[in-house]
Amino acid sequence: MTVPTAANAPAFASSAGPDDADGRTRFEELIAADDRVEPSDWMPEAYRKTLVRQISQHAHSEVIGMQPEANWIGRAPSLKRKAILMAKVQDEAGHGLYLYSAAQTLGTDRDTMFEQLIAGSAKYSSIFNYLTPTWADMGSIGWLVDGAAICNQVPLCRASYGPYGRAMVRICKEESFHQRQGFEILLSLMAGTPEQRAMAQESVNRWYWPALMMFGPPDDESPNSQQSMAWNIKRLSNDGLRQRFIDMLVPQAEVLGVTLPDPDLRWNEERGHYDHGPLDWDEFHEVLAGRGQANAQRLERRRQAHEDGAWVREAARAYAERMAARREERFEKVAS
Ligand SMILES: [Fe+2]
Ligand SMILES: [Fe+2]
Repeated sequence: MTVPTAANAPAFASSAGPDDADGRTRFEELIAADDRVEPSDWMPEAYRKTLVRQISQHAHSEVIGMQPEANWIGRAPSLKRKAILMAKVQDEAGHGLYLYSAAQTLGTDRDTMFEQLIAGSAKYSSIFNYLTPTWADMGSIGWLVDGAAICNQVPLCRASYGPYGRAMVRICKEESFHQRQGFEILLSLMAGTPEQRAMAQESVNRWYWPALMMFGPPDDESPNSQQSMAWNIKRLSNDGLRQRFIDMLVPQAEVLGVTLPDPDLRWNEERGHYDHGPLDWDEFHEVLAGRGQANAQRLERRRQAHEDGAWVREAARAYAERMAARREERFEKVAS
């Protein structure tokens, strides 16, 4: 087991300077041909920075996102539900690891990203700052939060940066299981007692709007989107993705028998899409600014888990050093 550190982070990042004319031409050709940029290719610093920011935020979201559901592992209503929930939460840890690895290929090591998260200087998806007071929230998170994640992430499988796109392919396969298990929890509750149906509906009422905000601010307030689309990192705009998600949810809500809490939601024949009511962007910005239900709790828990895991990192480092020394010894013997 190797713990990536600044010292052993893969030296993928291109050593060419910012003014490498050939490198720039090659990069522009790759983007124009909708081809993949790989870690050893020259890339503009702004492209690298955008990717590190996006991939590390994404990795942090996966890792912090384990907390709202871990809250219910010990209280899941059956052994089967507990096993499913544990598998899902473990998947999220794995998603974090794929993504940290992808970000490392851009020259930023994992320790730095962890430190930024724990210090509160790195962002993660605001949705994970909401609390999970009922079992039905496990259903709503799977159906709505993982559902929104899939909508967002399927186009990222074609992102121009190779390691990111490839990580997303595997992540999306697992996310689709996550969404189905959430849908199935809600379906079971909706087939249950009036109390269970009320619990499912109340939970959907709380998660619906925050899930729509997961796609980010409206297009006219999202200045970086245009550049990300020009670089083939992002394929669809925030509002385009949000519309696609709403159109997908309406028939699924009908199957479940839940009501989506938007009185303005109706089919628009002309547009071929559902119209929807206004989103509460003040709430979005409040949570983003750290004033959500659980921002402090989430960071504190992560800080604690990081400190508790210090001995594992130390042991892994010592082991890696011993293995490296042994390899060196063997090499010297062969050479002499
Ligand atoms: Fe995930
Ligand atoms: Fe997920």
